[in-house]
Amino acid sequence: MKLKTMLIGLAAAAVISTPAMAVGGLKDAYKDAFVIGAALNSGEIMGNNKLADAIVAKHFNSISPENDLKWENIQPGPERYNFTVPDAYVALGEKNHFYTVGHVLVWHSQTPSWVFEGKNGGPATKEELLARLKDHIFTVVGRYKGKIKSWDVVNEVVGDDGKMRQSPWYKIGGEELFVKAFQWAHEADPAAELTYNDYNIENPNKRAEALAFVKRMKAAGAPITQVGIQGHYTLDVPDLKLLDDTISDFAKLGVKIAITELDIDVLPRPNLGATADVAVHLAEDPKLNPYVHGLPEAVQQKLAERYATVFAICLKHKDVITRVTLWGVTDADTWHNGWPIPNRTAHSLLFDRAGNAKPAVDAIIAVAQH
Ligand code: XIL
Repeated sequence: MKLKTMLIGLAAAAVISTPAMAVGGLKDAYKDAFVIGAALNSGEIMGNNKLADAIVAKHFNSISPENDLKWENIQPGPERYNFTVPDAYVALGEKNHFYTVGHVLVWHSQTPSWVFEGKNGGPATKEELLARLKDHIFTVVGRYKGKIKSWDVVNEVVGDDGKMRQSPWYKIGGEELFVKAFQWAHEADPAAELTYNDYNIENPNKRAEALAFVKRMKAAGAPITQVGIQGHYTLDVPDLKLLDDTISDFAKLGVKIAITELDIDVLPRPNLGATADVAVHLAEDPKLNPYVHGLPEAVQQKLAERYATVFAICLKHKDVITRVTLWGVTDADTWHNGWPIPNRTAHSLLFDRAGNAKPAVDAIIAVAQH
């Protein structure tokens, strides 16, 4: 049987099989394969969301910080660090023995403009930028040494055009800056998993450059250990056969693979393809917000099948997959409520707004039990 047929068959069987599985949560069903994570927002980190707390306790054994370790939050001004929420995040991970993830060190988004500005006006020089990055990495990675197990060192360095993204990091620092970022992160915490993270690298064109980037990083002596496939999907895009191929391709380079930001948007998304570019903003239109009063059963089933297929593929590759992380806990907090169109009612995650597990949860568990 062809892989695609097999996986879809498996996912469909998982969806129709009876619930009431004899296991606890997702993390228990996948305990022999990989850890299962969820991204937490500031409120969840600070213990202000009891609903989310209960879900995380039952289903997840890894956490990622949705926004609080991004540069604009952790170092909003030069040498002005803000550790309150990050410290609480890391303490939460330690208390619960979670596999705690750091996100993110080098990214063109959510990095304040001062980082790229020179002391004497105009853009920062390469030396200035490298000095700031070095300080940032040693301060942040060093502070959580041994506690944060995996760092997203560089994020989204390849553009949707399949070429290196012309970000200020790249334009000022060149590829050497990315090599140094990995080396400094490794120096600051030699035990941490160090990740290059990106979206839409399932797409063969973009994937080709992402693969070449990993090869160049390794050749230049960057201690890169993992590739993060973000996994911001819709019900139709991408064809998940591409995910299967992508995992195989990166595994051949000798890196591990994590699915770092999984969610599946069910809302209409005109002409966007598979982008997860946070800079994209489309205008509000009621026609593009069809499920304000809940998700129709047929769409709910399609969502469950799609999630089950993603997990079936990851399970097939469990030797190289370290983790599958959902980008949020419940639909109340998915970033898709505001991106790419503001004020919508999104249904992208595994738990609805009331915290109820969707059919997708049992479907994913059933995949592990087959
Ligand atoms: C998103 C957050 O979920 C939003 O709250 C924030 O407004 C924008 O960023 N790729 C990434 C994540 O690496 O950090 C992004 O998270 C989603 C896309």
